[in-house]
Amino acid sequence: MANPDSYLRQPWRTVHGIPMVNAFALNWERIDNFQSRPEDIVVVTFPKSGTTWVSEIVDVVLKGGDPKKCKEDNIINRVPMMEFAAPGKMPAGTDQLEVMASPRIIKTHIPAHILPKTFWENRCKMIYVGRNAKDVAVSYYHFDLMNKLEPHPGTWAQYLEEFMAGRVAYGSWYNHVKGYWERRKDHPILYLFYEDLKEDLRREIVKVAQFLGHELSEAALDAITQHTSFEAMRDNPTTNYSKLPSDIMDHSVSPFMRKGTTGDWKNHFTVAQNERFDQDYAQKMSGTDLRFRTQI
Ligand code: A3P
Repeated sequence: MANPDSYLRQPWRTVHGIPMVNAFALNWERIDNFQSRPEDIVVVTFPKSGTTWVSEIVDVVLKGGDPKKCKEDNIINRVPMMEFAAPGKMPAGTDQLEVMASPRIIKTHIPAHILPKTFWENRCKMIYVGRNAKDVAVSYYHFDLMNKLEPHPGTWAQYLEEFMAGRVAYGSWYNHVKGYWERRKDHPILYLFYEDLKEDLRREIVKVAQFLGHELSEAALDAITQHTSFEAMRDNPTTNYSKLPSDIMDHSVSPFMRKGTTGDWKNHFTVAQNERFDQDYAQKMSGTDLRFRTQI
């Protein structure tokens, strides 16, 4: 058994040129050799973009809008994260998925260009969730403070530089969001935005259900909208990550379900940081028609 001290708060390792959570990077062949099934549904995001939110929406839609069924098990078992590994502490995502009945809902943050080819070949449905870079950076910073699978993020000012340079786990936010935006032209990808979910959750749930070929009654839609509100997910022990070992995630530092808003970046970016960020953003995002909202 690996000793968690060998991977908690350790620097990233690189996989296929991308910075990766130390514990996840070990034995990456398990990811490269992963076998998808055509009926798999993939929830894919850059970290901190609303992965848990949309995972819960997909699961409750597949369960016909019955939140009680979702509450029977923790989200980390209902929607395993493919690349997750914490040897000696928790089961690896690939092991969980291997024995799971179809249709599986698979969570991953792997960028499009290194996602195992099997998902493209099997034409698995994918739901991508994008969130504006400023709120992602703030959310990721707080996550790295509380999640010991990540290296310590240092100060906010230091972290923001690392984020802009793509020196955070899963690499460049800019390349990540653009990568799946491009692939949606030739693959069944529903591209959602966190800000749209905040603006009108019910409307976005309908999009998810339609994409998955599920018709929902008005009553089921009401139930799903209520069940996946920020407050409901924050107070639900099967979605708020409070059941994870506290030596991995320390919610007393910053809760996983932190604020759940759009525009919190305004409480963290200085005027100078914001100007620098905008300038750099314009360069990195030039040549794409992909647009994000930093406030709603
Ligand atoms: P904040 O840190 O800004 O609060 P992920 O699941 O990809 O790790 O994303 C986590 C972010 O999504 C956190 O953002 C979390 O609070 C937010 N989140 C989770 N569930 C949510 C919900 N139902 N409504 C709004 N935001 C949610």
